[in-house]
Amino acid sequence: MSNDRVQPKLIIHGGAGSSLKGKGGVEVVRQSLYMVLKEVYPLLLAGASATEAVVKGCQLLEDDPRFNAGTGSVLQSDGQIRMSAALMDGAAQRFSGVINVSRVQNPILLAQALQDSPDRILSDHGAAELLRELELPAYDPLTEIRLQEWILERQGNFSKEMAGVVAERELVEETAGRGTIGVVVLDSFGQLAAGTSTGGKGFERIGRVSDSAMPAGNYATSQSAISCTGIGEDIINECLAARIAVRVTDGASLQAAFERSFKEAYQNQRDLGAIGLDAAGAIAWGKTSEVLLAGYHTGDTIGDTLEWNDGSLVGFVK
Ligand code: GLY
Repeated sequence: MSNDRVQPKLIIHGGAGSSLKGKGGVEVVRQSLYMVLKEVYPLLLAGASATEAVVKGCQLLEDDPRFNAGTGSVLQSDGQIRMSAALMDGAAQRFSGVINVSRVQNPILLAQALQDSPDRILSDHGAAELLRELELPAYDPLTEIRLQEWILERQGNFSKEMAGVVAERELVEETAGRGTIGVVVLDSFGQLAAGTSTGGKGFERIGRVSDSAMPAGNYATSQSAISCTGIGEDIINECLAARIAVRVTDGASLQAAFERSFKEAYQNQRDLGAIGLDAAGAIAWGKTSEVLLAGYHTGDTIGDTLEWNDGSLVGFVK
Protein backbone atom coordinates (compact mmCIF):
# COMPACT_ATOMS: atom_id res chain seq x y z
CA MET A 1 0.00 0.00 0.00
CA SER A 2 1.55 3.35 -1.03
CA ASN A 3 1.85 6.24 1.44
CA ASP A 4 -1.27 8.06 0.30
CA ARG A 5 -3.43 4.92 0.47
CA VAL A 6 -4.95 3.35 3.57
CA GLN A 7 -5.97 -0.24 4.20
CA PRO A 8 -9.64 -0.50 3.19
CA LYS A 9 -12.17 -1.82 5.74
CA LEU A 10 -15.57 -3.34 5.17
CA ILE A 11 -18.44 -4.36 7.43
CA ILE A 12 -21.84 -5.60 6.29
CA HIS A 13 -25.04 -6.79 7.93
CA GLY A 14 -28.04 -8.87 6.97
CA GLY A 15 -30.29 -7.79 9.83
CA ALA A 16 -30.82 -8.54 13.48
CA GLY A 17 -33.29 -10.81 15.19
CA SER A 18 -34.07 -13.40 17.80
CA SER A 19 -32.53 -16.42 16.07
CA LEU A 20 -30.80 -17.59 12.90
CA LYS A 21 -33.11 -20.59 12.55
CA GLY A 22 -35.46 -19.01 10.02
CA LYS A 23 -32.51 -18.01 7.84
CA GLY A 24 -31.01 -21.49 7.54
CA GLY A 25 -28.60 -21.46 10.48
CA VAL A 26 -25.17 -20.03 11.22
CA GLU A 27 -23.18 -21.67 8.44
CA VAL A 28 -25.61 -20.76 5.70
CA VAL A 29 -25.80 -17.12 6.77
CA ARG A 30 -22.01 -17.03 7.21
CA GLN A 31 -21.58 -18.27 3.64
CA SER A 32 -23.91 -15.57 2.33
CA LEU A 33 -22.10 -12.80 4.21
CA TYR A 34 -18.60 -14.04 3.32
CA MET A 35 -19.50 -14.29 -0.35
CA VAL A 36 -20.30 -10.56 -0.30
CA LEU A 37 -17.17 -9.67 1.69
CA LYS A 38 -15.01 -11.66 -0.70
CA GLU A 39 -16.54 -10.03 -3.75
CA VAL A 40 -16.48 -6.43 -2.51
CA TYR A 41 -13.13 -6.28 -0.71
CA PRO A 42 -11.01 -6.84 -3.87
CA LEU A 43 -12.86 -3.96 -5.52
CA LEU A 44 -11.63 -1.71 -2.71
CA LEU A 45 -8.07 -2.96 -3.19
CA ALA A 46 -8.44 -2.16 -6.89
CA GLY A 47 -9.39 1.44 -6.07
CA ALA A 48 -13.19 1.43 -5.90
CA SER A 49 -14.60 4.41 -4.03
CA ALA A 50 -16.46 3.94 -0.75
CA THR A 51 -19.81 4.70 -2.38
CA GLU A 52 -19.15 2.33 -5.30
CA ALA A 53 -18.25 -0.47 -2.90
CA VAL A 54 -21.29 0.23 -0.71
CA VAL A 55 -23.61 0.10 -3.71
CA LYS A 56 -22.09 -3.17 -4.94
CA GLY A 57 -22.31 -4.75 -1.49
CA CYS A 58 -25.91 -3.63 -1.06
CA GLN A 59 -26.83 -5.02 -4.50
CA LEU A 60 -25.39 -8.41 -3.62
CA LEU A 61 -27.22 -8.49 -0.30
CA GLU A 62 -30.46 -7.26 -1.92
CA ASP A 63 -30.16 -10.11 -4.43
CA ASP A 64 -29.83 -12.73 -1.67
CA PRO A 65 -33.38 -13.92 -0.90
CA ARG A 66 -32.31 -14.82 2.63
CA PHE A 67 -32.31 -11.17 3.61
CA ASN A 68 -35.20 -8.75 3.90
CA ALA A 69 -34.22 -6.28 1.18
CA GLY A 70 -34.66 -6.41 -2.59
CA THR A 71 -35.43 -10.03 -3.52
CA GLY A 72 -36.88 -11.67 -0.42
CA SER A 73 -38.41 -8.50 1.02
CA VAL A 74 -41.25 -9.05 3.45
CA LEU A 75 -44.83 -8.16 2.57
CA GLN A 76 -46.76 -5.31 4.11
CA SER A 77 -50.24 -5.59 5.64
CA ASP A 78 -51.91 -5.40 2.23
CA GLY A 79 -49.68 -8.10 0.71
CA GLN A 80 -47.55 -5.64 -1.25
CA ILE A 81 -43.78 -5.20 -1.13
CA ARG A 82 -42.50 -1.65 -0.60
CA MET A 83 -38.78 -1.17 -0.16
CA SER A 84 -36.59 1.64 1.12
CA ALA A 85 -32.88 2.30 0.71
CA ALA A 86 -30.34 5.02 1.43
CA LEU A 87 -26.77 5.85 0.51
CA MET A 88 -24.61 8.35 2.36
CA ASP A 89 -21.28 9.60 1.07
CA GLY A 90 -19.25 10.50 4.16
CA ALA A 91 -16.69 12.73 2.41
CA ALA A 92 -19.42 14.89 0.86
CA GLN A 93 -21.70 14.28 3.87
CA ARG A 94 -24.51 13.73 1.37
CA PHE A 95 -27.54 11.52 1.97
CA SER A 96 -29.87 10.17 -0.71
CA GLY A 97 -32.63 7.61 -0.60
CA VAL A 98 -35.93 6.15 -1.72
CA ILE A 99 -38.91 5.32 0.45
CA ASN A 100 -41.54 2.64 -0.24
CA VAL A 101 -40.58 1.80 -3.82
CA SER A 102 -41.94 -1.30 -5.60
CA ARG A 103 -41.06 -3.43 -8.62
CA VAL A 104 -37.30 -2.84 -8.66
CA GLN A 105 -34.51 -5.34 -8.14
CA ASN A 106 -32.04 -3.03 -6.41
CA PRO A 107 -33.47 -0.04 -4.56
CA ILE A 108 -29.90 1.01 -3.67
CA LEU A 109 -29.39 1.92 -7.37
CA LEU A 110 -32.13 4.51 -7.04
CA ALA A 111 -30.45 5.95 -3.95
CA GLN A 112 -27.18 6.05 -5.88
CA ALA A 113 -28.79 7.85 -8.84
CA LEU A 114 -30.14 10.49 -6.45
CA GLN A 115 -26.68 11.34 -5.05
CA ASP A 116 -26.25 13.92 -7.82
CA SER A 117 -29.81 15.19 -7.84
CA PRO A 118 -31.02 18.41 -6.21
CA ASP A 119 -33.94 16.35 -4.82
CA ARG A 120 -32.28 13.54 -2.94
CA ILE A 121 -35.00 11.58 -1.13
CA LEU A 122 -38.00 10.38 -3.10
CA SER A 123 -41.02 8.48 -1.85
CA ASP A 124 -43.42 6.09 -3.62
CA HIS A 125 -44.67 7.97 -6.72
CA GLY A 126 -41.48 9.98 -7.14
CA ALA A 127 -39.36 6.88 -6.75
CA ALA A 128 -41.50 5.03 -9.32
CA GLU A 129 -41.06 7.95 -11.72
CA LEU A 130 -37.28 7.81 -11.20
CA LEU A 131 -37.36 4.10 -11.92
CA ARG A 132 -38.97 4.84 -15.27
CA GLU A 133 -36.51 7.66 -16.03
CA LEU A 134 -33.57 5.36 -15.35
CA GLU A 135 -35.20 2.69 -17.53
CA LEU A 136 -34.61 0.03 -14.92
CA PRO A 137 -36.61 -3.09 -15.79
CA ALA A 138 -39.72 -3.89 -13.76
CA TYR A 139 -38.88 -6.65 -11.29
CA ASP A 140 -40.94 -8.64 -8.79
CA PRO A 141 -38.91 -9.22 -5.58
CA LEU A 142 -41.50 -11.63 -4.12
CA THR A 143 -40.28 -15.05 -2.99
CA GLU A 144 -42.41 -18.07 -2.14
CA ILE A 145 -41.33 -18.13 1.51
CA ARG A 146 -42.30 -14.48 2.05
CA LEU A 147 -45.68 -15.14 0.46
CA GLN A 148 -46.22 -18.17 2.72
CA GLU A 149 -45.24 -16.13 5.79
CA TRP A 150 -47.78 -13.49 4.88
CA ILE A 151 -50.54 -16.03 4.24
CA LEU A 152 -49.84 -17.76 7.58
CA GLU A 153 -49.90 -14.47 9.42
CA ARG A 154 -53.19 -13.51 7.79
CA GLN A 155 -54.65 -16.87 8.72
CA GLY A 156 -53.44 -16.35 12.27
CA ASN A 157 -55.31 -13.08 12.37
CA PHE A 158 -58.52 -14.88 11.62
CA SER A 159 -57.92 -17.69 14.11
CA LYS A 160 -55.36 -16.78 16.73
CA GLU A 161 -55.60 -20.17 18.44
CA MET A 162 -54.47 -22.14 15.38
CA ALA A 163 -52.10 -24.59 17.08
CA GLY A 164 -50.88 -26.10 13.81
CA VAL A 165 -49.02 -23.00 12.64
CA VAL A 166 -46.95 -22.44 15.78
CA ALA A 167 -43.70 -23.56 14.19
CA GLU A 168 -44.28 -21.49 11.08
CA ARG A 169 -45.29 -18.47 13.15
CA GLU A 170 -41.92 -18.69 14.88
CA LEU A 171 -40.35 -18.39 11.45
CA VAL A 172 -42.47 -15.34 10.69
CA GLU A 173 -41.46 -13.63 13.91
CA GLU A 174 -37.77 -14.26 13.30
CA THR A 175 -37.68 -12.92 9.80
CA ALA A 176 -40.12 -10.08 9.89
CA GLY A 177 -39.57 -6.90 11.78
CA ARG A 178 -35.84 -6.78 12.14
CA GLY A 179 -34.41 -7.61 8.74
CA THR A 180 -32.47 -5.09 6.73
CA ILE A 181 -29.15 -5.12 4.94
CA GLY A 182 -26.32 -2.65 5.32
CA VAL A 183 -22.80 -2.01 4.07
CA VAL A 184 -20.20 0.35 5.57
CA VAL A 185 -16.88 1.02 3.85
CA LEU A 186 -13.57 2.81 4.38
CA ASP A 187 -11.95 2.98 0.95
CA SER A 188 -8.26 3.05 0.14
CA PHE A 189 -8.39 6.87 -0.12
CA GLY A 190 -9.58 7.14 3.49
CA GLN A 191 -13.19 7.98 2.58
CA LEU A 192 -16.26 6.53 4.25
CA ALA A 193 -19.75 5.62 3.06
CA ALA A 194 -22.79 3.76 4.36
CA GLY A 195 -25.75 2.13 2.62
CA THR A 196 -28.86 0.47 4.02
CA SER A 197 -31.77 -1.25 2.28
CA THR A 198 -34.91 -2.92 3.61
CA GLY A 199 -38.27 -4.45 2.84
CA GLY A 200 -39.48 -2.84 6.06
CA LYS A 201 -40.94 -4.30 9.21
CA GLY A 202 -43.34 -6.73 7.59
CA PHE A 203 -47.14 -6.54 7.94
CA GLU A 204 -46.93 -2.77 8.51
CA ARG A 205 -49.72 -0.45 7.49
CA ILE A 206 -49.50 1.23 4.10
CA GLY A 207 -47.38 4.36 4.12
CA ARG A 208 -45.27 3.42 7.13
CA VAL A 209 -41.76 4.86 6.65
CA SER A 210 -38.66 2.84 7.56
CA ASP A 211 -35.62 4.16 9.40
CA SER A 212 -33.39 2.78 6.63
CA ALA A 213 -33.95 5.79 4.38
CA MET A 214 -33.50 8.26 7.24
CA PRO A 215 -30.31 9.55 8.90
CA ALA A 216 -31.51 7.65 11.98
CA GLY A 217 -30.79 4.37 10.18
CA ASN A 218 -27.95 5.28 7.84
CA TYR A 219 -25.42 8.07 8.32
CA ALA A 220 -21.84 8.95 7.37
CA THR A 221 -19.40 11.81 7.79
CA SER A 222 -15.71 12.12 6.94
CA GLN A 223 -15.03 10.61 10.39
CA SER A 224 -17.47 7.73 10.77
CA ALA A 225 -20.15 5.77 8.92
CA ILE A 226 -23.00 3.74 10.42
CA SER A 227 -25.78 1.42 9.18
CA CYS A 228 -28.57 0.22 11.49
CA THR A 229 -30.95 -2.71 11.61
CA GLY A 230 -33.80 -3.67 13.90
CA ILE A 231 -37.21 -2.22 14.63
CA GLY A 232 -37.34 1.01 12.67
CA GLU A 233 -39.39 2.86 15.25
CA ASP A 234 -36.79 2.02 17.92
CA ILE A 235 -33.92 3.15 15.67
CA ILE A 236 -35.73 6.40 14.92
CA ASN A 237 -36.45 7.00 18.60
CA GLU A 238 -32.74 6.64 19.34
CA CYS A 239 -31.74 8.42 16.08
CA LEU A 240 -29.05 5.79 16.31
CA ALA A 241 -26.80 6.21 13.24
CA ALA A 242 -26.65 10.00 13.48
CA ARG A 243 -26.27 9.79 17.27
CA ILE A 244 -23.18 7.60 17.00
CA ALA A 245 -21.70 9.70 14.16
CA VAL A 246 -22.22 12.99 16.00
CA ARG A 247 -20.51 11.58 19.08
CA VAL A 248 -17.49 10.70 16.94
CA THR A 249 -17.53 14.19 15.36
CA ASP A 250 -17.60 15.65 18.87
CA GLY A 251 -14.44 13.76 19.82
CA ALA A 252 -15.50 10.34 21.10
CA SER A 253 -13.75 7.27 19.73
CA LEU A 254 -15.96 4.97 17.62
CA GLN A 255 -15.80 2.48 20.47
CA ALA A 256 -16.92 5.02 23.09
CA ALA A 257 -19.68 6.31 20.77
CA PHE A 258 -21.02 2.77 20.24
CA GLU A 259 -20.75 1.91 23.94
CA ARG A 260 -22.63 4.97 25.12
CA SER A 261 -25.29 4.80 22.41
CA PHE A 262 -25.97 1.07 22.96
CA LYS A 263 -26.11 1.50 26.74
CA GLU A 264 -28.78 4.14 26.21
CA ALA A 265 -30.66 2.01 23.66
CA TYR A 266 -30.59 -0.94 26.07
CA GLN A 267 -31.87 1.19 28.94
CA ASN A 268 -34.65 2.43 26.67
CA GLN A 269 -35.54 -1.20 25.86
CA ARG A 270 -34.95 -0.84 22.12
CA ASP A 271 -34.64 -3.75 19.71
CA LEU A 272 -31.89 -2.90 17.23
CA GLY A 273 -28.35 -3.32 15.97
CA ALA A 274 -25.73 -1.30 14.09
CA ILE A 275 -22.40 -1.60 12.32
CA GLY A 276 -19.82 1.16 11.87
CA LEU A 277 -16.37 2.26 10.82
CA ASP A 278 -14.21 5.27 11.53
CA ALA A 279 -11.65 7.03 9.36
CA ALA A 280 -8.78 5.37 11.22
CA GLY A 281 -10.12 1.94 10.27
CA ALA A 282 -11.73 0.91 13.57
CA ILE A 283 -14.66 -1.47 13.05
CA ALA A 284 -17.56 -1.63 15.52
CA TRP A 285 -20.90 -3.34 15.92
CA GLY A 286 -23.61 -3.38 18.54
CA LYS A 287 -26.94 -5.01 19.32
CA THR A 288 -29.69 -5.06 21.89
CA SER A 289 -31.44 -7.88 19.98
CA GLU A 290 -30.38 -11.51 20.49
CA VAL A 291 -28.56 -11.89 17.17
CA LEU A 292 -26.76 -9.57 14.76
CA LEU A 293 -26.03 -10.94 11.28
CA ALA A 294 -22.85 -9.01 10.51
CA GLY A 295 -19.53 -9.85 8.85
CA TYR A 296 -16.38 -7.79 8.37
CA HIS A 297 -13.14 -7.69 6.40
CA THR A 298 -10.16 -5.99 8.04
CA GLY A 299 -7.79 -6.58 5.11
CA ASP A 300 -6.04 -9.28 7.16
CA THR A 301 -8.97 -11.28 8.45
CA ILE A 302 -12.62 -11.98 7.84
CA GLY A 303 -14.90 -12.38 10.84
CA ASP A 304 -18.52 -12.24 11.87
CA THR A 305 -20.88 -11.67 14.78
CA LEU A 306 -23.13 -14.67 14.18
CA GLU A 307 -22.14 -16.52 17.35
CA TRP A 308 -21.50 -13.42 19.43
CA ASN A 309 -23.53 -14.14 22.48
CA ASP A 310 -21.51 -13.11 25.55
CA GLY A 311 -24.04 -10.59 26.81
CA SER A 312 -21.99 -7.54 25.78
CA LEU A 313 -23.73 -4.79 23.84
CA VAL A 314 -20.85 -3.86 21.54
CA GLY A 315 -17.85 -5.45 19.82
CA PHE A 316 -14.75 -4.06 18.07
CA VAL A 317 -11.89 -4.98 15.85
CA LYS A 318 -9.16 -2.79 14.37
N1 GLY B 1 -35.18 -1.38 10.14
C1 GLY B 1 -36.08 -1.68 9.11
C2 GLY B 1 -37.43 -1.20 9.35
O1 GLY B 1 -37.92 -1.21 10.46
O2 GLY B 1 -38.08 -0.79 8.43
